[in-house]
Amino acid sequence: MKFEDFKIISTASYVPERTVTNKELTSILDTTDEWIVKRTGINRRHVVTTETTSVLCTKVANQLLLKSSLTADDIDLIVVATMSPDYLTPSVSSMVQGNIKAKNAIAIDINTACSGFAYGIHLVRQLLINNYKKNAILIGGENLSKLVDWNDRSTAVLFGDGAGGILISNTCISENSTFIAEDLKTLGNYGNYIVAGYTGQPAPFSTQKIESPFFKMNGRKVYNFAIEEVPKSINGALKRANLCTNDIDFFLLHQANERIIKRISEKMGISEDKFLINIGEYGNTAAASEAILFDQFVNSKVIDRGDKIVFSGFGGGLSIGTVIIKY
Ligand code: ACO
Repeated sequence: MKFEDFKIISTASYVPERTVTNKELTSILDTTDEWIVKRTGINRRHVVTTETTSVLCTKVANQLLLKSSLTADDIDLIVVATMSPDYLTPSVSSMVQGNIKAKNAIAIDINTACSGFAYGIHLVRQLLINNYKKNAILIGGENLSKLVDWNDRSTAVLFGDGAGGILISNTCISENSTFIAEDLKTLGNYGNYIVAGYTGQPAPFSTQKIESPFFKMNGRKVYNFAIEEVPKSINGALKRANLCTNDIDFFLLHQANERIIKRISEKMGISEDKFLINIGEYGNTAAASEAILFDQFVNSKVIDRGDKIVFSGFGGGLSIGTVIIKY
């Protein structure tokens, strides 16, 4: 049996019911609806009340199966991209595997923050090809509201919770290739631009200082990094595929800031219409953002089978990941 490429069988997403509007935030923070909309494009975000990352991801996994003709027994691999797991162990992917009773699947979490979906596609593809596996679930899921200092206006207005995913199957049909090209890059020297999720307490023998678990971000530096590196990454992947921007139907960029997306479209000379955007409703959901966006625009039939799509994520690490697919 040959394993040449994969096909996206189904897409799914889930966000918590509770929404927090910009207006609601003005009652707890020194901010305004106008500032948030103008600087970020965000109107509201969905936040969990009782759910955790594994619960959000399990809902997506169940939907992915329902929208396919497969059962949980058919799944060989579950990958969850997250920077906000319920625990360090068990992994979110293991919890999803147990919850959906996918007894034949191995489960792996990855954490490349907002590039998680693109890195996840890279990893799933390699694992499917190299291990002769057939069906995989890839989910980006986040509970970022627990990592936010709700007294810090510079970060609290930005983030939201949610999960999205795809069910991928190996196919032998190389002429109908889904995967086209990728460009992944890590800039660990700049990791201190975005820090969140300090875990644990130092042992009594340790002299380590206790850090805050909440987001600390140098927003301006991350903004400049995104404007500089995302076009390079997209152009790198296009070059490898021997494609130009006109060949691409839609660009699905990580939803961190509408201004970043508009600036990138301007810088690359690509019409804004090709950049799909939903940050107004969800805020920044890190590894979940491109997956939620993809599912939304597949469901509304804006994205059609055969469309060429660029996914490009950027953020914590720092990391950047671009993947080009034909849906
Ligand atoms: N409401 C009102 N004023 C605010 C708020 C707020 N919520 N937040 C900051 N301000 C003030 C600041 O205090 C500052 O005031 P000052 O001029 O008196 O000092 C002023 O607004 C401007 O602040 P900047 O930080 O310079 O604002 P900027 O235009 O850069 O926007 C933002 C900030 C939205 C964070 C932007 O820098 C950004 O989007 N950066 C990129 C973030 C990103 O892409 N993250 C992705 C990765 S996240 C991850 O990996 C998990």
